[in-house]
Amino acid sequence: MRRLLLWMARNRWLRDHLPRLWFARRAVRRFMPGEDPASALDAAARFKAEGIASEFTRLGENVTTVEEGDAVAEHYLGLLADIRARDIDGEVSVKLTQLGYDLDVERTLAHARRLAERAAESGKTLWVDMEGSAYAEGTIAFYERLKATNPNTGLCLQSYLRRTAEDIQRLLPLSPQIRLVKGAYAEPPAIAYQGKHDVDTNYVSAAVALLDAMHAGHTVRLGLGTHDVRLIEQIAEHAAALGLPKASFEVQMLYGIRMDQQRRLASEGYLVRDLIAYGEAWYPWYMRRLAERPANVLFALRQIIG
Ligand code: FDA
Repeated sequence: MRRLLLWMARNRWLRDHLPRLWFARRAVRRFMPGEDPASALDAAARFKAEGIASEFTRLGENVTTVEEGDAVAEHYLGLLADIRARDIDGEVSVKLTQLGYDLDVERTLAHARRLAERAAESGKTLWVDMEGSAYAEGTIAFYERLKATNPNTGLCLQSYLRRTAEDIQRLLPLSPQIRLVKGAYAEPPAIAYQGKHDVDTNYVSAAVALLDAMHAGHTVRLGLGTHDVRLIEQIAEHAAALGLPKASFEVQMLYGIRMDQQRRLASEGYLVRDLIAYGEAWYPWYMRRLAERPANVLFALRQIIG
């Protein structure tokens, strides 16, 4: 089921046709408050009242012209201004291929630098998502260059990739900001762990390595981008055993998923950030959410029928 859904996520015909169907639009509402940025900002204002911070991403990837990438960068500059104007505790997370990485890496770097500078004006971080494994090395090398000029930038690393432990050691000297996730794409066994147990074990050891580095005096910001509360608790126990405060890491979860846990963790004094997606290009992203938990397919069907 996971592989079928991930194949559907990549299928061009489905991507062009399925989102036009009313029932698909209705089902996606569970994972995003709306297609326009205003709905995302309104949702973030509500989260702020509950002590939950936000992170925004405009859906879309692999643009095919540099002009599209330029327009995405302009869009995010406007969003950063709106975040500031509305005094929202919100950060922005971008996909490099949405800024034109496939077409012109230097232009993409210039976009990322402008966005990071705008984010720095209000003390915020610009996050870089991690896409499929074909982009892993390029994205890390890109982040090394970006971090050198713009310290307020963070990178997503995926625990299903076998290389992640080494990537952490490579990035530690840069005082990195890392969002650790399990990984959302279909990757081959040669480069990625396939079973949940291995992915989870690698997740915990990556988080432990980052906490140990913090304990040893490295400057690191750690975001746990997972809904796996069992793993979060294990990692929190390790942080406490090292004598690190609750604020030594941040829990980052997606809008609409485990909201009860997001509220509980925030009320217990953990830093919690909700990633709010918006935009029209939601199809591949939505299919990856269904693939993460095939029970969501039943949920979607019930919403369509009900
Ligand atoms: P796992 O899938 O094991 O789920 C643990 C539990 O959480 C499940 O048992 C279920 O209860 C709940 N759950 C998880 N997913 C759910 C869903 N879709 N619907 C309902 N319940 C669900 N990936 C990537 O490759 N690159 C990236 O840049 C990012 N960025 C990112 C940012 C943030 C803030 C988050 C939270 C996630 C990402 N991801 C990502 C996605 C990530 O790789 C992963 O696919 C999902 O987080 C699902 O995995 P979990 O860690 O939640 O664990």
